[in-house]
Amino acid sequence: MDFKALIEKMTVREKVLQLLQLEPTFFAAVEDEFNTGPKRRWQLSDADIASTGTVINFSGASKLHGFQDDYMRKNPYGLPLMTMLDVIHGYRTVYPIPLGLAASWDMDIVRDCTAMAAKEASYDGIQLTFAPMVDLVRDARWGRVAESPGEDPLLCSDFARASVEGFQGDLGEGKLAACVKHYAAYGAAEAGRDYNTTDMSERTLREFYLPAYKAAIDAGATTVMSSFNAFNGVPSSGNKLLMKDILRDEWGFDGVTVSDYAAMWELIPHGVAADEKEAAYLSMEAGMDLEMMTVTYARHLEALIEEGKIDLKQLDEAVLRILKLKEKMNLYENPYHFADEKKVEEVTLCKQHRDLARRAAEACAVLLKNDGALPLNKRKCKIALIGPNANTGNMLGCWSGKGKDEETVTVLQGIKNLIGEGRVGYAQGCEIGLTTTDESMIPAAVDLAKTAETVVLCIGEHKWDTGESSSRMDITLTDVQLKLFDEIYKVNDNIVVVLFAGRPMDLRKIKDRARAILCMWWPGTEAGNATANLLFGEVVPSGKITMSFPWAVGQCPIYYNRFNTGRPRSDDWKRCSCQSAYIDGPNSPLYPFGYGLSYTTFEYSDLKLSADKMERGGVIKAGVKVKNTGDYKAKEVVQLYIRDLVGSVVRPIKELKGYQKIELDKGEEKLVEFTINEDMLAFYGADMTRKAEEGKFRVFIGTNSDVKEYLEFELL
Ligand code: BGC
Repeated sequence: MDFKALIEKMTVREKVLQLLQLEPTFFAAVEDEFNTGPKRRWQLSDADIASTGTVINFSGASKLHGFQDDYMRKNPYGLPLMTMLDVIHGYRTVYPIPLGLAASWDMDIVRDCTAMAAKEASYDGIQLTFAPMVDLVRDARWGRVAESPGEDPLLCSDFARASVEGFQGDLGEGKLAACVKHYAAYGAAEAGRDYNTTDMSERTLREFYLPAYKAAIDAGATTVMSSFNAFNGVPSSGNKLLMKDILRDEWGFDGVTVSDYAAMWELIPHGVAADEKEAAYLSMEAGMDLEMMTVTYARHLEALIEEGKIDLKQLDEAVLRILKLKEKMNLYENPYHFADEKKVEEVTLCKQHRDLARRAAEACAVLLKNDGALPLNKRKCKIALIGPNANTGNMLGCWSGKGKDEETVTVLQGIKNLIGEGRVGYAQGCEIGLTTTDESMIPAAVDLAKTAETVVLCIGEHKWDTGESSSRMDITLTDVQLKLFDEIYKVNDNIVVVLFAGRPMDLRKIKDRARAILCMWWPGTEAGNATANLLFGEVVPSGKITMSFPWAVGQCPIYYNRFNTGRPRSDDWKRCSCQSAYIDGPNSPLYPFGYGLSYTTFEYSDLKLSADKMERGGVIKAGVKVKNTGDYKAKEVVQLYIRDLVGSVVRPIKELKGYQKIELDKGEEKLVEFTINEDMLAFYGADMTRKAEEGKFRVFIGTNSDVKEYLEFELL
């Protein structure tokens, strides 16, 4: 396609409209609420709609042909529309929420799952997904932690890369273009309240928050979404430092930028634009291409160009990027991409996809506590399955695509599938909602608990308790769930808790009394089968949390790669010792980053470094022996952390620099080795250049971020 000639032919209005993204309803010619409502209010004519460049929230292979044909017939140049949707952790087959998926520490699974989602969605007429979301998160109050890979820049980056590879592949059949989001630092919303302001140093931004977006872009993500938050006083959609200086000039990103839903218009309530026209001006100046579901460009860009405030060249460049994205997806040749109703039927919820969703859910589960209660005995045990999350398909979590609760395997069903009907009784116990206080179902649950050997208590959150605009001040279990636990405990103290939640929770009130706690996150379509397999030891848990579980919500934000301070809390800390500590609780979280138990035990020994000095450009090998000393063949995530002891600026007390997920037979021992190079030691120093500074480094290899044993080497 000769884009230059095309752009020359297009009127300014037609170009402006390529930048507009609307919901499907706007494209219908019938008089309905959209045509008489928003469409008219926004002064969009039918001709405008015929030139609008992209459509959000479109899906359905059966509809796409008619929809696209109709659009192309009306479009003055016969151009195709591009369809976009949030395909975050699955489509009809749903796999665990990203915070869970990351807990697998298995990037092959991430790649396979995103590829599976792409397949189901792409056949169903979707061409771009607004994913991966790779906002680094440190505050469990924020509802969107569920969508994030967690608190570590290395893991977030690996997750970003694997997701883009899975979604996009070669962008051909069964593939989606990927849009990395929400650029930038949306996960640092103050006080964990969604859409709230973010304020941080450029060093923190570059060191912790940016790497994952950059990794997605380096992996070829076609599109970048600006975030809702103000970053150091300037909302992302109008933020030149983020959108231009860093993204375009420094990283050389030449793909499309898209605003989050209405985020360009929101420059007005943010208070940096007086009106829509100024919002359009600031966004264009910052380098925003696509406007999602508001019309600041559509209504004001032409005037801004006529008045000479915006250079026509800027508009042409934005249009070119969008036209090129459509070319990348081969839409000029094949405007339906590979939408295919028959294929939808073939792949949707097919055995292969369900198997993968189950394996992913198994790999993501984190065993937080076990005093020997798990695994349960498949042949003998009699269980009371209790709890609001025990017999519900509400297992998919936020942003679960086209997933349906009724197509989801409940825990009750999963257990019956594995051990039969005979030895499991069920009682709901209570409702799950945050505001529910009804205790009337508790007595029946207590009666059931009396009759069983083990109580499996499925509690946690409702799926709507995490996700967008679902921030919480209190991350404990609801009172009625705690009451249910207490009452059951009085009659049967053999309680295994299965937690379904989209965030780290404060579990102090049950932690000591529960005999085991298995965190399943929101596991997806195969929830019940995966849970049953884990409970009964068909599969051994191997997930590790990628976000610290706070001891109490007051610790938030909390993260393992923190700085030491000038007065670090000592082991013998006492009140009034003037150290950086809380007087009413510990500094450390309930469960640290990287933590997760197994049914077996692992012994780490013989930590070794190949040298105690590293030349510039050289490498050092760090190795440790890991032995399976328990009774189950199992997987372990071996984690490498490094601490730079003295820098020109303060350095984290530990940073994850590598990890390997290995499998060991009973009694088997393996030497696990990591290669440390200079780049792994680099950071933004006092002069803001990224380099490794000479001096001593500590190397830790262990089972979670709380590992104590270390060796040291010196970088010359
Ligand atoms: C969310 C984005 C999402 C977009 C489109 C917004 O509200 O913040 O993550 O991609 O809607 O659905």
